[in-house]
Parts: sequence; C-alpha cells; structure tokens
Amino acid sequence: MATGSSPIIRAASPDDSIAMAAVVREAASPLMRETTILGGVGLDRFIRDQIASEAANRFLVAEVGGHIVGMSAWRYEGEELFLNHLFVHPSAQGRRVGTSLWARGLAGCNTGAARTLSLDVYEDNTRAAAWYRSLGLEPVAQRIVMAVPIPSVSPTADQAWSSTFLGPADHDYSQYGFSQFTLNTRRSTYTIGRLGTDFFRIASSVLLDDETALAALHRLDPRRRLLGFDAPDRWEAAAGRGAVLLGRTIRLTIPIEQLAARLGKTLSEAGG
Ligand SMILES: CC(C)(COP(=O)(O)OP(=O)(O)OC[C@H]1O[C@@H](n2cnc3c(N)ncnc32)[C@H](O)[C@@H]1OP(=O)(O)O)[C@@H](O)C(=O)NCCC(=O)NCCS
Repeated sequence: MATGSSPIIRAASPDDSIAMAAVVREAASPLMRETTILGGVGLDRFIRDQIASEAANRFLVAEVGGHIVGMSAWRYEGEELFLNHLFVHPSAQGRRVGTSLWARGLAGCNTGAARTLSLDVYEDNTRAAAWYRSLGLEPVAQRIVMAVPIPSVSPTADQAWSSTFLGPADHDYSQYGFSQFTLNTRRSTYTIGRLGTDFFRIASSVLLDDETALAALHRLDPRRRLLGFDAPDRWEAAAGRGAVLLGRTIRLTIPIEQLAARLGKTLSEAGG
C-alpha cells in the first residue's frame, strides 16, 4: 500500500472516514479495540459524524500514493492539548508517517492557550511508549484497566434510579456500536459508556460502592461487566469484587514547544 515517498498530511474530510476506520482497525491492538470505542462496529460512521459536526476532535490523515495510511485526532482539554488517537497502517509503519502526522499536525494546530501536550498509552504498547519517552514525554499518572462483574441483584422497591439508556443514547448505540448514557441514583449521577456487547464503561470505580447503581445496571443488561479505568489504589477493593486486571495505561505529558522542536529536528534529519 505505501511507497517510499513522504506522506501528505491534511485535515480529514467526512469522506475519509471509512479509510480512517480501516487504518485504526488494522493498527489497534486487541486490548485497545476491546476497551475503547475503537472496536465499535460503526467506528467509520462515528468518525464521519465527528468530522462533519466539527466536534471537539480535530482529525488529520496521512496519505501516501493517494491512499490513507495514517490518522490522528487531537482535542483540547482545558489548557491541555490531548493527542487522542495516532494510528499508522501496519504496511506503512516505520517510515516516518507517525512522526509526520505528529509534527505537521502540531505545527498546524492552533494551540491557543495550551502549553502542554498529553496522551495515554497502554503499558503493553512498548514500542509507542518507548518512542514517546525518547521524544521527552514524561509519565504523570497511571491507571489500571479492569473488568468487574456486576452482581446479579435486581433493584428493590426503595432503590430509586433513572437512566437515559434508551432514547438518543440508544440511537447512537445502533449507529456506532457504543454510546453514553446517564444513570441517576440517590447517591450520584454517573456517565456510563455502553461499549460493544460486553461492557458498561465507568469513569471511576466509586460506582462500585453504590448498590442501587449496580442493581440498575444489572437490570439494564445482565450480560455486561463493568469496564473501569481507575487509580491503582482502587485495585484491592475491585479485586475483592471479582475484578480481572486487563491492563494499565500511562499518561505522558510534555511542554508543546519542547516537543515541536524535537519532532521538527527528527524530520529535518530524515530529510522529511
Ligand atoms: C506508534 C505508531 C503511530 C508510530 O507510527 P510509525 O509511522 O510507525 O512511526 P515512525 O516511522 O514515524 O517512527 C516513530 C518511532 O517509532 C519507533 N519505531 C518505528 N519503527 C519501529 C520498529 N520497526 N521497531 C521499533 N520501533 C520502531 C521509533 O522509536 C521511531 O522513532 P525514531 O526512529 O525517531 O527513533 C504506529 O507504529 C502505530 O500505529 N502503532 C500501532 C497503534 C499505536 O500504538 N498507536 C499509538 C497509540 S498511543
């Protein structure tokens, strides 16, 4: 698919979404696909809708010989620029496509008030993690990724709860294979991801202490487990509930100026 020529880096258009999703499917690891939206059956439709709506993510593609071989997605989180996705098709890896996507993307981003760039990498993705470290990114946090069974208990009459499981969230789910809904209990309001057919993704394992929330989720879909991304010190409590450790993610960060200088140097040394 790829030739030896330098990639063209450009803003993605909605028509690129099928090729972009294909790159992601080929390049992402089984763990990435299982535990994120990247494994969604309608990922191409999701990317298309995100590009068309000019939502929070800014998408770039890398083209070689008229074929899309790479993609990246960037978003702002407060004063932080976040590299949300970076994927290069396996047939084009190791030829500076990833470096170009990053360097040219960063140069073309209006970084505004953002001073740092951050990203999350799965710990078992040793090649990408080693590359990021070699560029000067430093680890600032670690999260464990775990699957937790939901006890098969139905809500009792005094356990009040409501959710947006059906409605617009259900429409998104049928389109993309994932969606987000809200679950309200007396204790709290939770934003929950409905991911593929196996998981309810939770933002924090605090929900594990809310018996009403657990009973409600069991009622909504008894086949699913909870997918939690949380601080390592939450592991012991989750393990006591039968959790399985799926992996770990590391958040890495670097001042934007430092990274831009480093990537620019790498590309000019390579004549890219
Ligand atoms: C990580 C990824 C985006 C890098 O893109 P790429 O086009 O292959 O990377 P490049 O050719 O620009 O090389 C970037 C660095 O990767 C490393 N690398 C490239 N080819 C490599 C190889 N065959 N073996 C080991 N490391 C390699 C090197 O550190 C290289 O930097 P350097 O040559 O300046 O030291 C790509 O490999 C990929 O899509 N991997 C799978 C998905 C993924 O891990 N995405 C990141 C999620 S956080």
